[in-house]
Amino acid sequence: MNANKALWEKGDFTRIAETMRESGEALVGELGITEGLQVLDLGCGDGTTALPAARLGADVLGVDISSNLVAAGNARAQALGLTNCRFQEGDASDLHELGDERFDLVVSIFGAMFAPRPFDVAKEMVRVTRPGGRIVMGNWIPNDPTLVAQILRISSSYSPQPPEGFVSPMTWGVEDEVIERFAAAGVPEDRVSFERDTYAFNHPGAPSELVAEFRSYYGPTMNAFEAAAANGRASDLQAELDTLFTEQNTSNDATSIPATFLRVTVER
Ligand SMILES: C[S@@+](CC[C@H](N)C(=O)[O-])C[C@H]1O[C@@H](n2cnc3c(N)ncnc32)[C@H](O)[C@@H]1O
Repeated sequence: MNANKALWEKGDFTRIAETMRESGEALVGELGITEGLQVLDLGCGDGTTALPAARLGADVLGVDISSNLVAAGNARAQALGLTNCRFQEGDASDLHELGDERFDLVVSIFGAMFAPRPFDVAKEMVRVTRPGGRIVMGNWIPNDPTLVAQILRISSSYSPQPPEGFVSPMTWGVEDEVIERFAAAGVPEDRVSFERDTYAFNHPGAPSELVAEFRSYYGPTMNAFEAAAANGRASDLQAELDTLFTEQNTSNDATSIPATFLRVTVER
């Protein structure tokens, strides 16, 4: 079994995606999407960005490695009556089923960053984008003080060392690494730009309830709890995450936690 696929098919990422809908929609609203634009959403999950892009009139293909999320995305598109949005299984490191220069816009928000072999990922994203088209990635930033980087930092301190040769997904949040990967795919540095942006995680209950959602449904956090439990440290991990979520919450009567990410735009 592909470990990358197994990680994301574990649990149910749709539960976390529910908390990210407002930011997904807001980001898509800034991408200048027009009727008939050919859009690929890579690592699309259940459609947090794909569905708003389709509602703006784009012709959207969502590709994700997780069969459960592909099924959830197609069900959401169908429920909304969106015939211009479909989801299929695929691996961002190898998009052989997609033709060259097929898309006007390739979007990957916290998606392709999780695929193995980042140089292959950059090459594939460039290959399927038409000249004059764009690639927009959202990538979490290593050591950033906000939510997701901190969840991953805390989780890794309870988890076994990754195998030799493992490239952390967080390296997609380092500008020099991103430039190097796209340069190797034939895109000069002056066609890659960066800005800091924010996503909010919104949940109707208390921060501890959102931690519970991560513990029960988010593959990387589920794995961290399994590793911590094997060492009798699950309650320490729980306490660290409760503190983190509570400290970062900006809402008085529910949970709203902003998280900073690196927005990468590549002009093909
Ligand atoms: C943090 S989720 C983000 C999902 C979605 N973009 C969103 O904003 O809700 C990461 C997604 O990347 C997908 N993914 C991980 N590795 C992948 C790969 N190699 N190829 C395609 N998708 C992948 C996961 O299945 C998951 O849906």
